[in-house]
Order: sequence, then structure tokens, then C-alpha cells
Amino acid sequence: VTYPTQTAAPDAAIGDAAKDAAGVETFTLLPETPAAAPAIEALLDDVFGADRFGRVSYRYRVDVPPVVGLSWTAYEGQRLVGTIRYWPVTLGGGAMPALLLGPLGIARDRAGRGVGRRLMRHTLELAGEQGYGLVLLVGDPAYYQRFGFLPATPHGFLMPGEPRPEKLQMIALRPGALAAAKALHDAKGIVTIGRCQSGGQPLLP
Ligand SMILES: CC(C)(COP(=O)(O)OP(=O)(O)OC[C@H]1O[C@@H](n2cnc3c(N)ncnc32)[C@H](O)[C@@H]1OP(=O)(O)O)[C@@H](O)C(=O)NCCC(=O)NCCS
Repeated sequence: VTYPTQTAAPDAAIGDAAKDAAGVETFTLLPETPAAAPAIEALLDDVFGADRFGRVSYRYRVDVPPVVGLSWTAYEGQRLVGTIRYWPVTLGGGAMPALLLGPLGIARDRAGRGVGRRLMRHTLELAGEQGYGLVLLVGDPAYYQRFGFLPATPHGFLMPGEPRPEKLQMIALRPGALAAAKALHDAKGIVTIGRCQSGGQPLLP
């Protein structure tokens, strides 16, 4: 899927941006391929820092593959400029599958051009089509609320050990999904986000 790049600030470097036949800058979204892995890791190290693996949300990602079909990339020509991945998680002690969105990262010099928005909207739509009901993430509410994400902690969701519960957010992709997830609460009213088994294949919804 190819989109025109949003108009950049006048002083922004054009760099090696791709252009279509009419000379308009474009970027293209493609499903993640194994060959893209080194470029994705380098991009994520740059925008989040190499210490990103210490974040609590990464505990859900160790030895668990990202969800095939929902992990997408954005390219300007041959250059990787954006990445989004989703991991499978469970709710209520394994009773219900859900998705953990992230990391979402855009190359620093390509931020603010609509790449993140397109990656978000495209993959959330695919997740809904694939039957997933609930997506969770740890991120900046100011950015994610535009896609419909809401604070998850007030609804009882808990990512054990996460020091920034105010950054835990969620979106329901179909009617009834939030109520179904909340119904899985324990005696304290908590719905704990659980890890998929090591090496396990992504759970189907
Ligand atoms: C944050 C990030 C994912 C946004 O992607 P992007 O391609 O730069 O953003 P877009 O061009 O799609 O911006 C969409 C909108 O979000 C706004 N926005 C961008 N970054 C934002 C932020 N950090 N907070 C709030 N709003 C933000 C844009 O101004 C734009 O607003 P508009 O629709 O009113 O024009 C990207 O800049 C990035 O990778 N940053 C570093 C890593 C990070 O912070 N990741 C997310 C936290 S987990």
C-alpha cells in the first residue's frame, strides 16, 4: 500500500525519499519479512535506545514470535522508515487471547509525516478483520488516543511490574470485547495481562 508523504516542515531534509511518477514523495507499507529484521532492530535501537529490552512490556516478547500478518513495515524506496509489531498475550489466566501492540517506531528524520498513523490504522483494521477483540499497549496517551485507545488501568487491566500504569491503554475492536475481557477479573477486580508460552505460536482469537 503506497501513500503520499505528508508535507514536511519547509526546512526538513528530503533525503532519499521515494517519489511517484508525478514527483510526489511516497512511502509504502509492506508486511514484515525476515530480511527486514536487522534494519528494524537498528531503527528501534535508535528511537527507543538499546536498553529498550529492559522494559516490562518486553517480558511478553522474549521467546515469543510477533504475530505474523500484523507486523508491518514502511519503506521510502529501499529504506526502512517505520515498523510496527504485535505480540500475542492472554487475559484472565489464558481464558482470552489479546494483542500487545508495539513497538511502533518511525525513523527520527521521517517523524511527523503520517507514517505512524498509516501503520497504526492499517494494522488495527487487519487485527479486527482477523477477529481480535482487544489490543493493549504501553505508550504515550497523547499520541494513541487519536486512534481510539483509552486508559486501561481504570478498567482493571494490570501489566504486572509496569511502573507507568497510566501509560497502559486499550482499544476494543468489536462490540462486547471489552465487557468480555473485564468479566475475567479476579477477586480484586483485576484482569492480569499474561504472557504466552515460550516459543508458543500466536494464539488465534
Ligand atoms: C511517536 C511516533 C510513533 C509517531 O509516528 P509519526 O509517523 O511521527 O506520527 P504521524 O506523522 O503519524 O503523526 C500523527 C499525529 O500524531 C501527532 N504526534 C506525533 N508524535 C506524537 C507524540 N509523541 N505525542 C503526541 N502526538 C504526536 C502528530 O503531530 C500528528 O498529529 P496530526 O494528526 O494532528 O497532524 C514516532 O514519531 C516515533 O517513533 N517516535 C519515537 C518512538 C515513540 O515515541 N514511540 C511511541 C511510544 S510507544
